[in-house]
Amino acid sequence: MQRISKDLLKQISDELIAQHGSPRSALIPILNRLRMDNVTPDATVMKMLAETLQIAPSAIYGVVSFYSFLDHRPKGKYVIRVCQTISCKMSSATEIADALKSELGIEFGQTTADGLVTLERTNCLGLCSEAPAMLVSETAHTKINTANVKDILKSIHKQMPAASN
Ligand code: FES
Repeated sequence: MQRISKDLLKQISDELIAQHGSPRSALIPILNRLRMDNVTPDATVMKMLAETLQIAPSAIYGVVSFYSFLDHRPKGKYVIRVCQTISCKMSSATEIADALKSELGIEFGQTTADGLVTLERTNCLGLCSEAPAMLVSETAHTKINTANVKDILKSIHKQMPAASN
């Protein structure tokens, strides 16, 4: 999880307000930018954002708590979201989930001790014809099997050599 200064938050906010027309219209794009930069919108960030945008903190919390991708709880550098809806369930999503839990040594809703990966369930990703499917942060992976799981996790660790041992 990254920290963000008031100045940087103001700079990002100004840029996105200019693009979207008003602080309220820019709220989700700002939260999304923070998510992409691995900044968790925790209580401190939501308070700073409320001051920057002159929007009630409760309104910001309402948005953050409504969208699961904007979770206010800290997450790993990578978030793996495994589809648990019917088409994927019928295409061995449960085995994929078990392989991920086993390889990572965590349960759904947890983050690895090195802070690299958070494992979550998600509903249909719209990739049913290529089930089972999952997202690794922004990247969709389809027709996954347990061998793919190992390869995907290896590639995550290769991208973060300092975090993998
Ligand atoms: S059911 Fe998994 S992508 Fe649609």
